[in-house]
Amino acid sequence: MSDDSLPSPAGTRTAAVIPAAGRGVRLGPGAPKALRALGGTPMLIHAVRALAASRAVSLVVVVAPPDGAAEVRSLLDAHALPERTDFLVVPGGETRQESVRLGLDALPEGHDIVLVHDAARPLVPVDTVDAVIEAVRDGALAVVPALPLADTVKEVGAAPAPGAPEPVVATPERARLRAVQTPQGFDRQTLVRAHRTVTDEVTDDAGMVEKLGLGVVVVPGHEEAFKVTRPLDLVLAEAVLTRRRLNDGF
Ligand code: C5P
Repeated sequence: MSDDSLPSPAGTRTAAVIPAAGRGVRLGPGAPKALRALGGTPMLIHAVRALAASRAVSLVVVVAPPDGAAEVRSLLDAHALPERTDFLVVPGGETRQESVRLGLDALPEGHDIVLVHDAARPLVPVDTVDAVIEAVRDGALAVVPALPLADTVKEVGAAPAPGAPEPVVATPERARLRAVQTPQGFDRQTLVRAHRTVTDEVTDDAGMVEKLGLGVVVVPGHEEAFKVTRPLDLVLAEAVLTRRRLNDGF
């Protein structure tokens, strides 16, 4: 664990909510995605360690599959985690949004900054976590780590018939687009308000804050914070872990 990460100044406490209740169907059949092994350790444990590696994070709330809270609790007990951090496990919901809300409901008083981090991004470096926290401390209500896109993106319309090619309707200017990662960081009250107010389906928490009409800012993301979604992502994640182990050996 890094000991040169961002310290926690008196008066600001940061909690992390890790939604880990998804089934991960795009990864193929098997255990819930967060419980699958990466380098012999469950993906969720990597994600928990990645967030707890920040000295600013004093509490991690893991949102478990609805019927898997006991299993996740024993998983956390069975793995070495930093002693300075507290851990809570709560059962999740049907959607990611609901799972995050259940995690927020479980937060005790006294944490003014909340990070929301996908269990499916197990390899996020601590510097990215700290950069997000720092931007919230500096006054941003919502912060997302993001990277420029390598691919050009097309917006498409509905295919004229089943199986027919989809028509392209627009090509957004690539230089203005960013691929957004997690952890996303928030002023706690802002995120709680967003989850109480916004009922539309969104794919990230910052999108809910945008719907409140409030500003969201971007800090640089990291290529190792990618989301493990498809089978090829597992291959890449294993390769990153192997490279880290080799580098640690020198
Ligand atoms: O499905 P997607 O990859 O967008 O999921 C992102 C994160 O949200 C994953 O870590 C997944 O476990 C979590 N999730 C959840 N509850 C759900 C669906 C997804 O906690 N019902």
